[in-house]
Amino acid sequence: MLGWIFFFWNGIILGMPYQKIFLAVASLFVIGAGQAQDVYTVNARQTRANISPTLWGLFFEDINRGADGGLYAEMVENPSFDFPKPLMGWATLPARVRTGVFMVINQSSVNEADPKFLRVDIGGGDHVALVNEGFGGMGFQKGGRYEGMLRYRRGAAGGMRVGVRLQNSKGGAGDAVIELTGGDTAWREQHFSITATDTASQGKLVLYFEGSGQLDIDRVSLFPANTWKGRPGGLRADLAQKLADLHPGFLRFPGGCIVEGKDIVHRYQWKKTIGPLENRQLVMSIWNDDVPLRQTPDYFESFGLGFYEYFQLCEDIGAAPLPILNCGLSCQFDAAEVVPLEELDPYVKDALDLIEFANGDATTTTWGARRASLGHPAPFNMKLLGVGNENWGPQYAERLQVFTQAIKQRYPYMQLICSSGYTPQKQEFQYIDSVLRRRHVDIIDEHFYNPPEWFLQNANRYDHYDRQGPKIFVGEYAAQSDRIGSLKNENNLRTALAEAAFMTGLERNADIVTMASYAPLFAHVTGWQWTPDLIWFDNNRSYATPNYYVQQLFAVNKGTAVVPLLDKGSPITGQDSCWGTACVDQPAGELIVKLVNMSDKSKQKTVVLADARPARMAMVTVLAGSAAGNANSLEHPDVVAPSTSSLPVRGKDIRIVLPPYSCTVVRVKVS
Ligand code: AHR
Repeated sequence: MLGWIFFFWNGIILGMPYQKIFLAVASLFVIGAGQAQDVYTVNARQTRANISPTLWGLFFEDINRGADGGLYAEMVENPSFDFPKPLMGWATLPARVRTGVFMVINQSSVNEADPKFLRVDIGGGDHVALVNEGFGGMGFQKGGRYEGMLRYRRGAAGGMRVGVRLQNSKGGAGDAVIELTGGDTAWREQHFSITATDTASQGKLVLYFEGSGQLDIDRVSLFPANTWKGRPGGLRADLAQKLADLHPGFLRFPGGCIVEGKDIVHRYQWKKTIGPLENRQLVMSIWNDDVPLRQTPDYFESFGLGFYEYFQLCEDIGAAPLPILNCGLSCQFDAAEVVPLEELDPYVKDALDLIEFANGDATTTTWGARRASLGHPAPFNMKLLGVGNENWGPQYAERLQVFTQAIKQRYPYMQLICSSGYTPQKQEFQYIDSVLRRRHVDIIDEHFYNPPEWFLQNANRYDHYDRQGPKIFVGEYAAQSDRIGSLKNENNLRTALAEAAFMTGLERNADIVTMASYAPLFAHVTGWQWTPDLIWFDNNRSYATPNYYVQQLFAVNKGTAVVPLLDKGSPITGQDSCWGTACVDQPAGELIVKLVNMSDKSKQKTVVLADARPARMAMVTVLAGSAAGNANSLEHPDVVAPSTSSLPVRGKDIRIVLPPYSCTVVRVKVS
């Protein structure tokens, strides 16, 4: 009976789904059967460490179709026929056309970055078409407007008529005619607009040609009109919004393994990702064939989402930019190519030039002027830069040294992120970690792809780190529900809560842990290579995982300083299957307590404020589910989602029920 009384006394439940209310009631009833309340003590005035505004951020990589086929909203795959197989992504209608009707011309001497174009040559009643299926099908929505562009050279187009059509399984779903202007040999861009008359998730774009004449086509492009911030050629609005809703402190970009490339020639080179699209040279993605069971032979990086768009996105979502650059090593798991030290200059120059591109004066510096010419005279205020991704060994140590000297000499304010390899659990880590500590580097990047139990057991990992040593960036982490590298890993509630428990340890150690990001960020439901991932999507829809909601709960409740939250004098790191941390948001005058319950039982806890008085009402946000294996999906995106309620507070005690398998955040004004 006590449980029922407690339930009514404990709070006013706002907007909680019925099944969740039932769960809360049921669990309280269990508590009422005689369990004692545990007492946690919080000292809201004893601030232990400031929390860096960058503590919770994002890791972005073009993996799992994160950029091409994902955040970058271009709907046409291989839009400029520059894939090694130039008609990959395209089909012709009829399937067998007369020889010479479609011909790919490779003229790399004119522009190495955009060597190929397609010549269409028809006559005598030809009626032919090109069909693009997008990235595993094209998504469009009934009533939605789509903006297209044809980059062409008319040559002897004569009486050729060109049209475009959206097509779904039922047939045509929107048409436009493309007016070809000019009769000269200059390349022109003709824009067209189509309103979809039906919806498709596996749609196609058909480009048809009738009459007679010759036409050269260099690019066929199609974007939804409602891109993020309405920018033409921009980002998918739903996906960018999901990033903004995470309120990230930083955005790490462009990876990940694509920084290194499978071999040096396939590394990421930022200078080839800015300016006109025809100057952005395509690269075969390391994720094209790196995962044997998830081969993606059509995975190429177009860099339509390049470094300028990246900085713009950072600005849009209030995230500090954190580029990671290649340091003269390709992926040490793959080719492991090493650029000789005496040939490292261009790599170092790329780093220096990137800083100038981001921060340099728009009128007096070359790269600052380049930024201004692209539309952003004001600097992007970049202060963080990563040198190398998941690199290790003496080869990394000596290259890092060269970069560090050059960068610090010219830009002493730049905080450098240094790699410690791919996991601290391997011997390679000891070597590189000791080198980095001896050098007193700014920030060390540690990565963890481990089972949930590891995350629970390591919530105290940083309690024992050298307080005078380098700061820590937990640059990639995700709990693996099956096993590391398994393609069966799931984004379920258990993994999300294990990460939450670990994150309480990161927050508690905010004096040395200044940044952390889950990885990877995005995955296309059919086009992925790696799982688990934070946000899943298809060609029209997207959903947030329980892991996403954990990231969001921590980010929107970041606070400004850590305060002690103790269970009988000790941090809460697994006693009674609970993990916890507390901080204050000083400008808001609020105490924030985060508690994770990893057991299948409700836990009744009393948070006693030792040195402050709480307001009479607290806000409680709970992320829970009916079972630890609960997961979200495109069809059921809200199986696990946070819900917020208010909680009356009596005196100095906050009495709270932690539902089974839950993460709870309590916010209360204190005086
Ligand atoms: O996040 C997926 C991959 O994991 C990254 O590309 C790499 O840095 C790590 O090994």
